[in-house]
Amino acid sequence: MTQSPHIPVLLHQVVDALAPFDGAVLVDGTFGAGGYARALLANAACRVFGIDRDPTAIEGGRALAGAYDGRLTMLSGCFGDMDRLLAEHGIDAVDGVALDLGVSSMQIDDPARGFSFRADGPLDMRMECQGPSAADLVNRMAEAELADILYRYGEERHSRRLARAIVADRKLQPFTTTGQLADLVRRVVPRGKDGIDPATRTFQGLRIAVNDELGEVERGLPAAERLLKPGGRLAVVAFHSLEDRLVKDFLRQRSGGGAQPSRHLPTAGRARPPSFRLLSKKPITPDADELAANPRARSSRLRVAERTDAPAWSGEAGRT
Ligand SMILES: C[S@@+](CC[C@H](N)C(=O)[O-])C[C@H]1O[C@@H](n2cnc3c(N)ncnc32)[C@H](O)[C@@H]1O
Repeated sequence: MTQSPHIPVLLHQVVDALAPFDGAVLVDGTFGAGGYARALLANAACRVFGIDRDPTAIEGGRALAGAYDGRLTMLSGCFGDMDRLLAEHGIDAVDGVALDLGVSSMQIDDPARGFSFRADGPLDMRMECQGPSAADLVNRMAEAELADILYRYGEERHSRRLARAIVADRKLQPFTTTGQLADLVRRVVPRGKDGIDPATRTFQGLRIAVNDELGEVERGLPAAERLLKPGGRLAVVAFHSLEDRLVKDFLRQRSGGGAQPSRHLPTAGRARPPSFRLLSKKPITPDADELAANPRARSSRLRVAERTDAPAWSGEAGRT
């Protein structure tokens, strides 16, 4: 197993955004190797709840927790359920939530997890290590559904041709390894001028589908809205435009920049009071030093907002 340590992206910007203080209760909803959680714990006598859906990350976090005198608590699960996970520990309001979306270097670099087309391994991609794997999707899904996933989540222009080729190949031999799928993509999809491996988009699309990553963002943002106290901060780092658009649209709407209610509806004139205030209109991106030290930070964007004292727009868990 080859694992490189995960270098936290936009670390000091996230810590500045959450502005930890003594006694604060904070959530690191994507714990990974705990880069954000450790920095927050080092900056103030605060308490951090670390959430991750990957059992390996939870194990690593539990091993760390002893060093923090009960200030770090690990919660196994999805950040889309963060209010329920915290309620189990008697917490119904917090001062800050950080989300660093996507996969960690540990996950990508371990061929046994099946996220990478660069090394051969089982075609898995499940962050939780349970439920349907990427191989299950590729071997069982209807051609049209597969094409849709590759187009919508992978932004693959050749999605139909690719789905057709996958369905033809799987009749001869089911897909079991990352190498097998990457080879097929390279055979079917021409390499673009940008030099990016054509398998990149297919692997991104499948990973997002296997882990319902966009659904998690759609559940996680309103869950954070319900949990944050007035003045509490939300900091979200996204790595691709599909996620970033969800974050941008959510914060724009909740901060009063969305469409106004129609004057033909009974709610006319009763615009909802904003539940967030944007702390920066534009996303925060890595500086040249960070990019030189960590090329993986290249496409990262941080959006930060502060909770107002208006009621959350979302009702019960899972509703926006
Ligand atoms: C980019 S890494 C976070 C790295 C972390 N900031 C650090 O400094 O080590 C993303 C982590 O979030 C986890 N994750 C992704 N989506 C999740 C979700 N919906 N709920 C909980 N954990 C999630 C992944 O398993 C992975 O460990």
